Formats: sequence, structure tokens, C-alpha cells
Amino acid sequence: LLEKGYFPGLEGVPVAKSSISNIDGDKGLLTFRGYPVQELAKHGSYEEICFLLLKGDLPLLEERIELTEDLLDHKELDDSIAETIVSMDDDLHPMHMLSSSILQLQSADAGCFNVENYQHNLNRAVQLIAKFPTILGTYRKQDPNFAEGETFDSLARYILYCFNEELAKQEKWINIFEQLLILHVDHTMNNSTFSVRAVGSSKASIYASIATAVNSLSGPLHGGANERVIKMLEEIGDPENVEAYLEEKINNKEKIMGIGHRVYQTYDPRALYLKENIIPRIFNEQSDVDPELDNLYQIAKKLEKTALDKFADKDIYPNVDFWSGLVMRAMDIEPKYFTTIFALGRVIGWTSHWVENMEVKNKIYRPKQLYDGFNTRHIIREEK
Ligand code: CMC
Repeated sequence: LLEKGYFPGLEGVPVAKSSISNIDGDKGLLTFRGYPVQELAKHGSYEEICFLLLKGDLPLLEERIELTEDLLDHKELDDSIAETIVSMDDDLHPMHMLSSSILQLQSADAGCFNVENYQHNLNRAVQLIAKFPTILGTYRKQDPNFAEGETFDSLARYILYCFNEELAKQEKWINIFEQLLILHVDHTMNNSTFSVRAVGSSKASIYASIATAVNSLSGPLHGGANERVIKMLEEIGDPENVEAYLEEKINNKEKIMGIGHRVYQTYDPRALYLKENIIPRIFNEQSDVDPELDNLYQIAKKLEKTALDKFADKDIYPNVDFWSGLVMRAMDIEPKYFTTIFALGRVIGWTSHWVENMEVKNKIYRPKQLYDGFNTRHIIREEK
């Protein structure tokens, strides 16, 4: 039983007022600025959702075109930053490379601590969103000029190009990838968004705040779960092993990756959307699915069913990371980059929260603790 006034993990504690996204965990409803995420994934573009989150409403056609140009115009990195990225050890996890590269962007923004001007903050957000894929493309391809000579008509095409040049030529895959990004754009006061608002509440720069969010997202209980889900499916190896695997995890009180959520008492709507709208486009429409990939899909289906049965009394369902790993694996993206793709969607939400946080009456985040250590004591030294 928890002590009165003690909220581990801040469970159930509202820490901010925000108009960016909303969740009804009983109904499995997620909205961005009031629009259901499924409608935005189906009908929206990355740029439109970016405009919606940052500015509060969907753009007119000219506004969307203007933002697309703005984002594509600002995607380049300074030479010195691109060179530093290429020089980083390729054993460094891409999420940690990403967070340290974001901090370096601060060097081109001398007034970064001047955070009072709304328009400047919006511009910073747009420029940061634009540079995210370039940081990842530069590192992944170990080449600051990896996109030289190419032209892009949309951010989704450019981002996919950073991970798979061939698929970035195919409309079907751009569409699947764009929907995946949109599903990840925001999710109320999750761990990384909370980090943005906590760091931003000290009036820290957008770079410091977003780098912190990337580090938070990298953890396996948050966005890092998508990478672990694929590793788990590979480890299970065969649908026949699912039951025993699950049994062992439950007996050892270990978490099953891609399952469970703090706020949903039903199926995560993002996971359901992937399962019903994206997975069938990959596994049912394509006759030539790679047998190894198909085996992972068969394991995932069996795992989903078995977990739903075993956890029926606990309200534990698959979350977005359960199916997203399989979608990215089908796109031939290396698992160590999976969480960076989550971040490429979520950066829109993070920056929108940072901008919103600078507009509200600020109160620095400073919760309290329940002290659980020694009573005051004193150093006792023997006289020499
Ligand atoms: N496997 C087995 N049992 C679980 C799982 C799981 N994945 N998730 C929750 N439970 C059980 C847990 O053992 C506990 O049982 P009991 O009450 O008997 O001790 C109960 O459900 C509550 O779990 P909790 O860990 O206290 O719940 P939480 O709200 O603190 O944690 C969570 C939520 C997402 C961290 C957790 O479900 C988890 O670790 N899941 C696996 C990692 C994962 O998939 N993370 C991605 C989350 S979705 C993307 C995102 O937004 O980051």
C-alpha cells in the first residue's frame, strides 16, 4: 500500500496544462489538437501534422507548402557538425549520437537562452525538426553529403531516404512510413515529453530540452522497446516457442517488451492502427514476403494472442512498439535505428511542448521527495 501523498513515477499526478494531445485510456482514444490520431495518419502528411501541433490548427494549402519548403530548406547541417557526427564511433548507439548532435546545434544559435519570443521559438522548432533526419542520415551513411544531388518533395520521402534509398522511390512505402511517423507524434505527458517540460521549465534552451528527451526515449521501458521487440521475436525463433517463452518471463517477473501501458486500459490505438491498417498491407498484399520476416510475423501474432489470454485479468495489451518494430524490419531498417524513427515522429510533439511551455506562466519543476535516510548525525574523530 502506498504512503499517503507519495506518487512513485508521478502516476496519476497532473504536472502541466496542455492543449496539444489528449488520451482517453478507457476508450483507447488519442487525439492531436482534437483530431483522432487514426484520421490524421490516414489523411494527413508529416508537414500538416507538424503545423497542426506547433500552431494549433491544420494548415491551408499555401501554409502547408510554405512549411514544407521551410523544413526542406533548413535540413542541412553546418560542416563542422556533420564532420563531428561522422567522426563519432559507430559503436555509439544512434540515440546517444542523436542527443549529443542536437546539443551541438546550439553553437549556431547564439541567442539560445533568449526564449521569450514566440516567433523565434517556433522558428527554432522548425529548424530542429528539419535537421533531425540529416543528423541520422549523416551518421548512418557516414557521409556528410549523402543526399547531394537529390531533390525531395516531402519530409516523409527525405526521412525515408536517410534509412532506405530504394524504398524512398516507392509511394506505397513512403505512405506507410509517413503514417508510422504520424502515429508517434505526441502522447501527452509521457516520460520524454515530461523531460522536455521539466528541463524547459528552468528556461533551458530547446537543444538542451530535446537532447534530454531523446535520452529519455532511448530507455527500454519507453521508445527503446521497439528495438527490443524485434530482438525478442528473433530470440523466440519459432511460433511454437511462444508459450514457454512467455511462461518463463512471467515466472521470472520480467517484462515482455511491447506489452503494457500506463494510461491505456485497452488496446493502444496506435498499435491497433498498425495491426489493422499497416501490417495487412505488408504481409497480405505482398506475395514475396521474405520467409524470415514472415516467421517473425507469425511469432508476433502468436505472442499477441497468448499475451492477451494470459493478461486478460490485468488490462495489459500490446502497445505501439509491439507492431512498429515489425513494420520497420519489413522496411529493412536496422533495429538500432528503430527508436530514432520514433524520435523523428515525436520531435514534433517535443518541440510543440517546449514552445507551449515557454508561453504559459512558468513554474520551475521542483517536486519533493520523501526522505528515507539517516537522521542528522555528526562526524566523530578521535583526538590524535
Ligand atoms: N510484461 C509483463 N507484465 C507487465 C508488463 C509487461 N510488459 N507491463 C505491465 N506488467 C504488469 C506488471 O508486472 C505489474 O503487475 P503486478 O501489479 O502484478 O506487479 C502490472 O502489470 C503493472 O505494471 P507496471 O510496470 O507497474 O506499470 P507501469 O504503468 O509502471 O509501466 C510500462 C508501464 C509501459 C513501463 C510497462 O508496461 C512495461 O515495462 N512494458 C514493457 C516495455 C514497453 O513495451 N514499453 C513501451 C511503452 S509504449 C511506447 C511509449 O510510449 O514509450
